[in-house]
Amino acid sequence: MPTVSLVVPKPDADDQFDLVTTHKVEDGNVLFEALEEQGTILPHGCLAGSCGSCRIEIIAGPENLSPLSAIETDTIEYLEKSYRERFGEEFLKGKTLRLSCRTRVKGDVSICKVREPKKA
Ligand code: FES
Repeated sequence: MPTVSLVVPKPDADDQFDLVTTHKVEDGNVLFEALEEQGTILPHGCLAGSCGSCRIEIIAGPENLSPLSAIETDTIEYLEKSYRERFGEEFLKGKTLRLSCRTRVKGDVSICKVREPKKA
């Protein structure tokens, strides 16, 4: 049974993380639904893959998620374009974004809210 770990960046080190919770989920379940069943409600909107409100950053195990569907690909491309415009090309380096309402869990992963630059 795969484990989904929710993590948050350490306050003074954006590339190090503190574990918040872990969830054992059925292989192949949709990430958002699997956590919701256990009482953890991730940020979301349409739950249909088009709004991008459920975007998450994959900190570890991106290879353990289902391939992107056509709608997830379109939405992720839109989100990445928006991030590039707001924060520059460097922002996306090393980041894997997915939609929790579309991606299915096939193995262990660690996820967090997309790390955006801190406001001054
Ligand atoms: S909730 Fe809208 S894309 Fe996932």
